[in-house]
Amino acid sequence: MANEHVQSVCLATTICLVIFLLLRTWKRRHIYYRAAKVKGPFPLPVIGSTYVLWGHTQDLLEGLIRLNKKYGSLYKFWTGSELCFFASKPEEVQIVLNSCAEKYQDMKYLNPVFGKGLLTLPAPEWKIHRKLLRGTFSQEILNSFVKTYVVYSNIMVGKLEESLGKGLVDVFPLFSLCMTDILCDTMMGVQVNTMKENGYNLILQTARLGELGCLRTANPLLHPDILWNRTSLSKETRTILEEVQQFIKKIVDTKRLEKAKNVACASQKPILLNRMLELEDTEKIWDEQMSLEETQAVLVAGADATTLTLGYVLMMLGMHQEIQTQVHQELDFVFGVSNRDVTLEDLLQLPLLERVIKETLRIFPVAPLVGRYLTKDIVLENVVLPQGSTVYVPIICVHRDGNLWPEPLKFDPDRFLPSEVAKRHPFSYFPFSGGPRKCLGPRYAMMAITTVLATILRHYKVAETGFGEISEIEMKLDVSGRCVKGQNVKLEKRSVEM
Ligand code: HEM
Repeated sequence: MANEHVQSVCLATTICLVIFLLLRTWKRRHIYYRAAKVKGPFPLPVIGSTYVLWGHTQDLLEGLIRLNKKYGSLYKFWTGSELCFFASKPEEVQIVLNSCAEKYQDMKYLNPVFGKGLLTLPAPEWKIHRKLLRGTFSQEILNSFVKTYVVYSNIMVGKLEESLGKGLVDVFPLFSLCMTDILCDTMMGVQVNTMKENGYNLILQTARLGELGCLRTANPLLHPDILWNRTSLSKETRTILEEVQQFIKKIVDTKRLEKAKNVACASQKPILLNRMLELEDTEKIWDEQMSLEETQAVLVAGADATTLTLGYVLMMLGMHQEIQTQVHQELDFVFGVSNRDVTLEDLLQLPLLERVIKETLRIFPVAPLVGRYLTKDIVLENVVLPQGSTVYVPIICVHRDGNLWPEPLKFDPDRFLPSEVAKRHPFSYFPFSGGPRKCLGPRYAMMAITTVLATILRHYKVAETGFGEISEIEMKLDVSGRCVKGQNVKLEKRSVEM
C-alpha cells in the first residue's frame, strides 16, 4: 500500500516536472530558435556551456579570451539554461551598450561587493538614482578635490619609504588604503585614515567577495540558495559582508551625526554623502538603506578600479624604462627642483603621463567584462539577439584585438596622440564602458590617478617589476581584472636633475 502511494507521488511529480519543462521550453521557444542560428560551445543539460570555463577565477578570464579567439564575434554561450552572447566588434559593442541599460541577471551574486547601488540596480531604480546623484560628479566639485588627492599622495610617498631596499613589493594593499582614504574624504566628507593607521582594508575584503561571487556565477550548481548556503564559501561571504557593512555604516553614521550637530561647512559641501542625506529628507523614495548601499557602491567601484590602475601603470613604467625616463622629464619640466604640491593646473601639463595611463587601461582594463540583459530583441549584423538573453562585452578582448591595435601587447602611449585617436572607432577603446550605464567616475579617476602618480614619480623610480614581457602578466577575473602574482614593483629614490 505504502509502495503504491510512493509510486503515485513519484509519477505525479514526474508528470508535473515534464509539463513544467515543456511549458518553459514553449515559452522560451523564441530564445532557442534565435540561439540555434549563432555559433558557440556545445551546451550540456543543466550546466550549459559552463564546463569550458570551470576552474579557478584566473582560468575564467583566460578561458574567455580563448573562446573569443576561437569563435570571434558574435558567439553564444549557455550558463545553465540562460542564454548569453559575447560581442566584441566595436560596431556591435556600440549598439549593445547604447541601447541597453539593464544589467545582466547574474549580477545578483555580486551584490555583496557593490551593494544594491548604481552598479547593480535594475534599470528603473538605477535611472532615478543616477539622475539624483550625477550632479555630485560635476567638474566644479571634482576640481575642488585635487588638494585632498595631494594630502593622501604625500602620506603615501612617506609610506613607500618603508618599501625601499626590500626588493619587489606588492603595492596593491597600500594603494587600496590610499584610494579608500581619498574616496571617503572627497565623496563622503569623512576621514577614515586607514593608510596612516594601517586600518581595515575594505578593498582587499571586497576583492575576496568578488572572487566568491564569480565562483558562484560561473557554477550553476551553486546558484540555488539551498545548495549555496551549505558551502563554506557562503559562510565566508557572510562574515566578510558583515565587516564591510560595519565599515560603511560607520562612515554614514559619522556624517549623519555631523549633520545632526549642524557642523557648518562640512555638511554643506555638495558632495555625494551630503546629497544622499539631504535626499532622505526631501525625496520620498530615498531611505537610509539607499544611502548605505550607494556609499558602498561608489567607494568600492572607485577605490578598487583606481588602485589597480595605479599598480598597472607602475608596472608598465618599470618594464619600459625609456618611457619612464620621458615621464620623469615631463614631471621635472613642470615642477623643476621645487617641492611644491601638485595643483589642478599641473594636471593639464602632463600629456605623456595621461597617455601612459590610457595605454595602461587599454592593455589592463580593470573592468575586463561588462554585460547587459536584453529587455527587447536587438539586431547585430543581421542576427537577432532575443529578449531574455544577456550580452557580454569583453572589453579586454576589444582592447587587445590585433585588427584594431597592431602589436596589441606592445606598450605604446603614442596610440593616444589625438591624431591616432581620431582614426579609430570610438568603441575600440572604452575602459569606462559606454552608453547610459557607463562609469560615473572617469574624470574623477583620471584626476586622482594623475595626481597620485605625479606625486609618487617625482620621488621614486620603478627599478624592476619581476616581469620581462607583458604576455607574462596573468590577470584573473573577480569583479575586476587583478594581477595573479600581485602588483609587484621595486622602487628606488630619485633626485631631480635639471
Ligand atoms: C580607472 C578607474 C575606473 C575604471 C576603469 C572604471 C570602470 C567602470 C566601468 C567599466 C563601469 C561600467 C560597468 C558596466 O558598464 O556595466 C563603471 C561603473 C561605475 N563606476 Fe567606474 N571606473 C573607474 C573609476 C571609478 C571611480 C573613481 C568612481 C567613483 C568615484 C566610479 C564609479 C562608478 C559608478 C558609480 C559606476 C556605476 C555607473 C552606473 O551604472 O550608473 N568609477 N566603472
